Amino acid sequence: MKKIAVIGAGTMGNGIAHVFAQFEFQVNLIDTSATALEKALANIAKNLDRQINKGILSNEDKISILQKVTTFTSIELGVQEVDLIVEAATENSEIKKSIFQQMDQFAKPDCILASNTSSISITALANATQRPSKVIGMHFMNPVPIMKLVEIINGAATDNETTNNIVALTKAIQKIPCVVKDAPGFIANRILMPMINEAVYAFSAGISDAETIDTIMKLGMAHPMGPLQLADYIGLDVCKNILTIMHEGFNDAKYAPCPLLVEMVNAGKLGIKSGEGFYKY
Ligand code: CAA
Repeated sequence: MKKIAVIGAGTMGNGIAHVFAQFEFQVNLIDTSATALEKALANIAKNLDRQINKGILSNEDKISILQKVTTFTSIELGVQEVDLIVEAATENSEIKKSIFQQMDQFAKPDCILASNTSSISITALANATQRPSKVIGMHFMNPVPIMKLVEIINGAATDNETTNNIVALTKAIQKIPCVVKDAPGFIANRILMPMINEAVYAFSAGISDAETIDTIMKLGMAHPMGPLQLADYIGLDVCKNILTIMHEGFNDAKYAPCPLLVEMVNAGKLGIKSGEGFYKY
């Protein structure tokens, strides 16, 4: 694989584009918003500067990495001739299915179609295409340039060749692949989100304040961030959506989002991106 398209220029999309370009792939970064694409390039440049400051990359590397990223506002133009598309658009099943239909329509027949979804069924996305054996989940973690894990999700029809190619590609960008089956929340969020939800319940019951809850989990469990700080970092709306997908997908009340989480999302308190969540920014 040499040429990769990334659909969606948000935090995850620009991080994924950054990493592929850093490892010598040509990247077509696609978003319907030209402003989002401009912001994404500025973000990649800022994160490359962090790597320069740490001595991992040089200024010349930064220039050559940025030159490897070409932006597009059209899926049709951006996915032609690529070997892999990683979709990192809004976490909404209908939007993703429509993007998968377009990816399938305009990409080469042997192009692999991957989704960075954090919990939506890969099998359902694959069923929106005529090539379900070439559809797979490639779930990166935020911040993409430094997190080592890629959770790889096989849909019901994903073939071995597709999985093997994506495992090899993940290693080629110096990340660690972990292959799992398709189920709501896969593994990462099936375990992470109930922990975050329980922290919100403990906070909401007044058992302790946010700082103390986070300190207990940071110092007691060696987590880099406490669960409430991490919820703010991920986005409270994203946490609520993932919990809802698991609640509905398993039909099990244990995954229902804590009422306080729902209230905060309704009040527009989404964490870092809105300026307030469990903390103020
Ligand atoms: N790009 C490149 N480098 C970055 C970066 C980015 N976007 N963000 C941070 N860094 C680097 C910094 O340069 C710094 O490097 P050094 O330590 O080598 O100097 C390092 O990461 C640490 O950054 P900071 O000093 O700014 O801050 P920190 O020490 O608090 O670490 C953190 C920040 C890496 C985010 C750390 O707190 C952490 O690992 N948090 C947990 C993150 C996590 O759990 N992510 C998964 C979220 S779940 C998800 O993504 C999936 C989902 O489906 C919801």
